[in-house]
Amino acid sequence: MSVLITGASSGIGLELAKVFACHNYDLIIAARSKEKMDILKQELEEKYNVKVHVCEVDLSNEEGVKLLYDKVKALGEEVEILINNAGAGYVGEFTNEPRERDLQIIQLNMTSLTLLTKYFAQEMIQKQKGKILNVASTGSYHPGPYTAVYYATKAYVLSLSEALNIELKEYGITVSALCPGATKTNFAKAAGKEDAGIAMPPEFMAKAAYKGLMKGKRVIIPGIRNRAFIKIPRSIAIYMISKYQKGLKRKA
Ligand SMILES: NC(=O)c1ccc[n+]([C@@H]2O[C@H](COP(=O)([O-])OP(=O)(O)OC[C@H]3O[C@@H](n4cnc5c(N)ncnc54)[C@H](OP(=O)(O)O)[C@@H]3O)[C@@H](O)[C@H]2O)c1
Repeated sequence: MSVLITGASSGIGLELAKVFACHNYDLIIAARSKEKMDILKQELEEKYNVKVHVCEVDLSNEEGVKLLYDKVKALGEEVEILINNAGAGYVGEFTNEPRERDLQIIQLNMTSLTLLTKYFAQEMIQKQKGKILNVASTGSYHPGPYTAVYYATKAYVLSLSEALNIELKEYGITVSALCPGATKTNFAKAAGKEDAGIAMPPEFMAKAAYKGLMKGKRVIIPGIRNRAFIKIPRSIAIYMISKYQKGLKRKA
């Protein structure tokens, strides 16, 4: 029985890999950066005496999903816990960004996550048990001007996960959505922006995610500030996000 974690080469996914290894789970870690994952594999196998399989895969296209699924089958490992963490975004005006970028983000954040959830949930149903963690965002709760596609994908992740939490309960499967706020990872840089000063450590997100997932929580929002932010009235939140992201866009 293993935990499959996408996007485990850095940030929150890497910290999740550490937390699960520390709790004696064997892992299958997936992302594009093989070298980084090989280093993590060595570290975790030595430190925690667990087995770590590395899958080099690009999940921004549909072949990537199939490749990952086939690799997991070829390993002969049963996935007890699926963590859909891989994700990407950008800051910029919607009309200025190339369509390819939008399509890759939609594929990675939504389509690949959906297909992996479907494939592994179907197997979990056979065993009448399993856990799925989908990484959404506090951005799932509001539209995000100047990062519109990214926020829209994260709204989808939250909606899908909350619906499946109900639907799969009768099969003994829990589905949880993790909603981090700004977190100190590669994410901001990859999205073409600076880290927010208030960004929290990814270790904190990973520990809270583990706790929430084990309890079968429907939604996990780590940190008081993040929980408070999602309660801000919608019109005020959209205004704040717009000002903030537009500022970042100018600097980028
Ligand atoms: N950091 C934040 O402020 C924040 C806030 C809310 C939600 N989140 C969410 O948290 C999740 C993890 O992000 P992070 O903050 O930890 O950022 P990160 O350090 O940039 O990690 C992103 C992970 O996704 C993987 N990834 C990206 N594109 C991929 C692709 N095409 N195929 C396969 N894997 C891919 C990356 O690996 P490779 O580059 O090696 O492929 C990396 O392992 C994302 O879903 C993100 O949307 C982050």
